[in-house]
Amino acid sequence: MTQIAKLKTEALELLEKASTLEEIEELKIRFLSRKGELAGLFSEIPKLDPAERKQFGQGINDLKILLTEGLEEKEATLKRSKRDLPPVDITRDPFPFRKGSVHPLSATYIEIINIFKYLGFIVVEGPEIEEDFYNFEGLNFPPDHPARDEQDSFFMQNGKLLRTHTSPVQVRVMESQEPPLAVVSPGKCYRRDTIDASHSSMFNQLEGFLVDENISVAELKGTIKYFIKELFGEKKTRFRPHFFPFTEPSMEVDVECVFCGGKGCNVCKKTGWLEIMGAGMIDPNVFIKAGLDPVKYSGFAFGMGIERIAMLRYDINDMRLFFENDIEFLDQFR
Ligand code: PHE
Repeated sequence: MTQIAKLKTEALELLEKASTLEEIEELKIRFLSRKGELAGLFSEIPKLDPAERKQFGQGINDLKILLTEGLEEKEATLKRSKRDLPPVDITRDPFPFRKGSVHPLSATYIEIINIFKYLGFIVVEGPEIEEDFYNFEGLNFPPDHPARDEQDSFFMQNGKLLRTHTSPVQVRVMESQEPPLAVVSPGKCYRRDTIDASHSSMFNQLEGFLVDENISVAELKGTIKYFIKELFGEKKTRFRPHFFPFTEPSMEVDVECVFCGGKGCNVCKKTGWLEIMGAGMIDPNVFIKAGLDPVKYSGFAFGMGIERIAMLRYDINDMRLFFENDIEFLDQFR
């Protein structure tokens, strides 16, 4: 038993000191291998008094377990730190530093938000995990609207869902603040889309809305035309009738194709126009649900896809590029 105790002290001391994977390997061979020191002790058993054999065997076994676990633990720690700290090449020239760059989606957000800030709009953000009321009900979606189907939206077990657009922020702001309101709201949205060059289950939108007394379609058109001019330069704009549950009248806004100048090309699918946002006059039902007087107040709202605008702005043909974080792609936006 003194022999076992001596071996134990020695082995644990070496384990403690070991600082490389090679040393761990040596200790494994020295103590635990078939011809190692523990095996050597086992072979002593037949020489012992039968009464002592059990205790002795047990003692070696305990030491074997202790050492095996200790070595494995140390090995794992060493492997981890090896991965964390790549070898440093002290001969390498430190210049030039590899600079980071603003992600094209962030750059697009910043540009758009600045245009609206200049007009007096403030930025308000809403939660990505949203309640049915703000995402649908408060926005005048009928109970059987297709977007409420599990096929189209990500629902959670607690009844909430990942917001499918940024429009819920309209309801949240109107519910908590009195007009005049001029708000833009950037953020991520989620839909159950199959992912391809122009669809992603996560995407970015920017919502905008203005509520006050005596707001008409004239203010909507003036604001949006100003925005388009700031973003794309002097371009023809078209307001095309559409439908959204939360605006009446509703429209989609097209801008003259920035690639072909309206002549018709592959990007605009030969139409000469690019659709860039949905918009409309806020439906009186939305005011009522948010607790505002629809007789006193009127307003307009619009929503645009940031990926789509960034794609037009930077001539990018595949939306997936935004999310892959490929350094070669991102480097082009320095
Ligand atoms: N929420 C709409 C969408 O996601 C866009 C929109 C916003 C339309 C505001 C009208 C007014 O498609």
